[in-house]
Amino acid sequence: MSVRRCATPADTFAAGHRLAGWLVAGDVVVLTGPLGAGKTVFSTGVASALGVRERVTSPTFTLVRPHRCANDQGIVTLYHADLYRTQRLDEVADLALGELVEESAVALVEWGERGDALWGPEHWRVRFSLAPDEARTLELAVPAGRAVDVAEWAA
Ligand SMILES: Nc1ncnc2c1ncn2[C@@H]1O[C@H](COP(=O)(O)OP(=O)(O)OP(=O)(O)O)[C@@H](O)[C@H]1O
Ligand SMILES: [Mg+2]
Repeated sequence: MSVRRCATPADTFAAGHRLAGWLVAGDVVVLTGPLGAGKTVFSTGVASALGVRERVTSPTFTLVRPHRCANDQGIVTLYHADLYRTQRLDEVADLALGELVEESAVALVEWGERGDALWGPEHWRVRFSLAPDEARTLELAVPAGRAVDVAEWAA
């Protein structure tokens, strides 16, 4: 577990960039934390680093939106989901995010705790908290067995 303090939206965007470099096809990233905590700002950073050209906003009319990527990590598609408006676990299960990411995609899941019974042990998790002033703290949990230097997260 590793905590990164992000004083500005630009810092939160940069944290997304950092995480993106560690992702491989098949990864699910669960983003948790209150309204306005920076989950979408972070997602735009991940998307930018994976070579998504279009603008990434909260998926408002659908629960999940695919974005085409361009990178040398073998990640062809970024699925950006927002479960805020889901009511029941089976709505989340119907999205089949775990299957969508197989082979060549990754998923970023805002309000991802709504699907906690589904993710299994092998997912990334970033817990966002609001700090006094404009700062946010982002606590990272890395899937077991990944060779990630979490000191690079806090830096
Ligand atoms: N340090 C910071 N990191 C991220 N966002 C910040 C920070 N300071 C201020 N902000 C502002 O907080 C807001 C964060 O909004 P964002 O949409 O990313 O939150 P969210 O967690 O996705 O919320 P929601 O749960 O509604 O989807 C933005 O308006 C952003 O400019
Ligand atoms: Mg959001």
